[in-house]
Amino acid sequence: MAYKLLVVGGGRMGSALVAGLLAANWCSPSELAIVQPSSPKREALAERFGGVTILDQVTKGDVDDHTGAVLCVKPDHAEAVARTLSGVGVSRLLSVVAGLSTQRLEACFKSSVPVIRSMPNTPVLVGAGVSAISGGEHSVAADLEWAESILGAVGTVVRVPERYQDTVGALSGAMPAYLYLIVESLIEAGVHQGLTRELSSTLVTESFAGAGQLLKLSVESPEQLRFNVTSPGGVTAAGIRMLEQRAVRAAFLEAVASAAERSRQLGR
Ligand SMILES: NC(=O)c1ccc[n+]([C@@H]2O[C@H](COP(=O)([O-])OP(=O)(O)OC[C@H]3O[C@@H](n4cnc5c(N)ncnc54)[C@H](OP(=O)(O)O)[C@@H]3O)[C@@H](O)[C@H]2O)c1
Repeated sequence: MAYKLLVVGGGRMGSALVAGLLAANWCSPSELAIVQPSSPKREALAERFGGVTILDQVTKGDVDDHTGAVLCVKPDHAEAVARTLSGVGVSRLLSVVAGLSTQRLEACFKSSVPVIRSMPNTPVLVGAGVSAISGGEHSVAADLEWAESILGAVGTVVRVPERYQDTVGALSGAMPAYLYLIVESLIEAGVHQGLTRELSSTLVTESFAGAGQLLKLSVESPEQLRFNVTSPGGVTAAGIRMLEQRAVRAAFLEAVASAAERSRQLGR
């Protein structure tokens, strides 16, 4: 039986996508297959996603002219898996593999299959990610719309020229880690001021989640939202002054530049 979509790799990213696609009624469970070689993971996926077919490998019988695939394996396996997908006749490919260009993926296919590269981030695990997509040489508007509809099931999607993908990885891709580092540091700061770890953790985590929601829902800019909390000569102003003295802004500029350069190195 041919499937509408093959999700190749049933790890964190693959299973988050399947959960989002099913929740959004992108297709019926029977039109979806997850390709996952290891047996314990297959059993767990079958239990979690009733009605979705879990395959240990993909064969020609799983594919027809309309079957697309999402590549959700680790970068080291990606090109070999793409060659297998070419061999069985997959008609278009969306890749979430970090740092792997559309050009390299296109080279894995015998024909001119549309390839769309994307960079999602970990909040896709809770349906609140942001993904940037870029079409390769053979992809047209309908292919980008197809990719957008898949990643749109787990968050916001933006389109970027592929040359920006290293920066996107260094910014929104890495950003959950930057933010968690801030959260960790602030929890520690509360503890150093005498709060219990549990209390400090609740105060910081809730403030983090609430400030994110306020930023998303408010019509005010991030600067204005910060000004709103910073009374002249007040408590927050004293804290901000110290952060500026320690060049926190410059540290973020350097962090993103350094991460983007590392992404470029890894993609070579
Ligand atoms: N997690 C993120 O935040 C994030 C963000 C952006 C992009 N990405 C990209 O997403 C991709 C997947 O990341 P992940 O975090 O989901 O990794 P993961 O949890 O390790 O999932 C990868 C899955 O692929 C399976 N696999 C290995 N070889 C395969 C094959 N030949 N055919 C089919 N499946 C195979 C693995 O099975 P075994 O475990 O049995 O080997 C595993 O279940 C990576 O390329 C990464 O760059 C991830």
